Amino acid sequence: MRTVLTPKQMGAVDRYMIDRMKIPGILLMENAAYGVYEAIREEREPCTVQVFCGTGNNGGDGFAVARILLANGYDVKVILLGNPSSLKEDAAENFAFFRETREYYTIITNKEEFEALPEAEVYVDAIFGTGLARNIDGIYQDAVNFLNARDALVVSVDIPSGINAETGIIMGAAVRADISVTFQYPKVGHFLYPGREYAGELQVVRIGVDEGCDIPLQAAVCAYESDDPDMCLGERPLDSNKGSYGKLLLVAGSYGMAGAAVLSARAASRAGAGLVTAASCGEVISVLQQNVPEATCFEVGGENGIISREAIPSLEKLTLGKTAIAVGPGLGVNDDIAAVVGNLITECELPKVVDADGLNVLAEHLEFLENKQGEVILTPHPKEFSRLSGMRTEDILGNPVKAAVDFAVEYGVTLVLKGSTTIVADQFGNASLLCVGTPGMAKGGSGDVLTGIIGGLLAQGKDVYEAALTGVYIAGMAGELAAEQEGEYSMTPMDTVNYIGRVMDAM
Ligand code: ACO
Repeated sequence: MRTVLTPKQMGAVDRYMIDRMKIPGILLMENAAYGVYEAIREEREPCTVQVFCGTGNNGGDGFAVARILLANGYDVKVILLGNPSSLKEDAAENFAFFRETREYYTIITNKEEFEALPEAEVYVDAIFGTGLARNIDGIYQDAVNFLNARDALVVSVDIPSGINAETGIIMGAAVRADISVTFQYPKVGHFLYPGREYAGELQVVRIGVDEGCDIPLQAAVCAYESDDPDMCLGERPLDSNKGSYGKLLLVAGSYGMAGAAVLSARAASRAGAGLVTAASCGEVISVLQQNVPEATCFEVGGENGIISREAIPSLEKLTLGKTAIAVGPGLGVNDDIAAVVGNLITECELPKVVDADGLNVLAEHLEFLENKQGEVILTPHPKEFSRLSGMRTEDILGNPVKAAVDFAVEYGVTLVLKGSTTIVADQFGNASLLCVGTPGMAKGGSGDVLTGIIGGLLAQGKDVYEAALTGVYIAGMAGELAAEQEGEYSMTPMDTVNYIGRVMDAM
């Protein structure tokens, strides 16, 4: 698990190191530059390097990198984009060496001048870092396009120029780096797409001391990656029985979508729940009994292959003695389903995970959330979240961490915003970024698997945030294993289910 900062938080940490720890900014820059130099030295013996610098402090880091490379035998050229008179203070200080020696830099003011540059073996992108404040255009955009057209190693200082360090989005244009060397902490934009892809290999270098830093890093974001050592499960005690591991009530499925109930039930059982009880209409129960022999199955009221509101009293009885509820996969959508889902959310105190058609109900009835009993986890993908929150999908993707956190805080829920980086946000303003999974999971049914896993963990007594976080991690890692063994194209959600055990064993 890694702590991840927003640019504003990183600015506060920089200020702490400079003002309180009395480490001069110029020294932080020097340390940062050494980190970048080390990354280049690992990859290439002395060779030709061009260092593209903006006029902010990211450019200042770039000048220092260039000086250190020169001192170590590299053939270096600094490409300054902009006027030296606009350089910020620390950047200007680092540029002084080049101004004095004159021979190692070129100032570029128009597109044609790029074409006159000789090819280099390494390019350093120090145009913009966390200070990127608006869309890139003009000469800066030309520089980004030039760098992206090079067939050479591209190393970005801090974050690829053009990637918003808070949201990961591209601001007009962005450098595609092979390596990004960032400082002290990774930034949120390194873990959200497209930033995660543009950053290439991410290296984090410490440049100062921030121990004891009392800057409020609350609402700090954490990131979890594959094989994360901090993801642990407790041992199952020898002296235990099925009652020790909780009882999940799964309300899922309708005629034509019985598979959703099967996937969720199997996943919940694989995730370790002591007992999975599935409730659905008759058409689904016969399929469940054949495909999930370990589950107990109850036919509740249904009409035309969909659970009807007559099911409510039976469901109320079924909640007795259970420890968690999973509701939504494959239910279908009509007024009766709304009544059933609404009753579970507003009347039952058990912790619950709500997905798929359960979310579609909530999108029309946010009052159910306002009147919820017990803790609730919601697991929307961006389109479902758009219906739920009323935000446009583009706006959600423009700053997904903020969108998820705002909703989770407003409604007092744990929100799992599914995506290539999944965001888990809690009601207190914290968020985790889960960098696990594979494009092979982009297939109908993967969400049902996740719901089952989270439900199974909830049933075992994990708190909502932990169940959501661990559930997403297990699903993503199981998906990665399934892709490895069955192929990214061909793997199915049931393959993901079948690898849950391998993942949980290794945790
Ligand atoms: N087009 C044109 N100009 C732009 C654009 C754009 N799209 N976006 C931003 N700018 C300009 C801004 O106006 C800004 O200049 P201004 O502050 O004079 O207005 C400048 O580009 C900012 O660019 P950056 O270099 O990205 O931002 P900053 O100067 O804040 O530096 C930093 C970022 C601290 C260097 C960070 O990315 C980094 O690399 N940190 C490494 C550690 C380090 O060096 N720390 C010590 C720094 S010294 C100190 O903090 C005082």
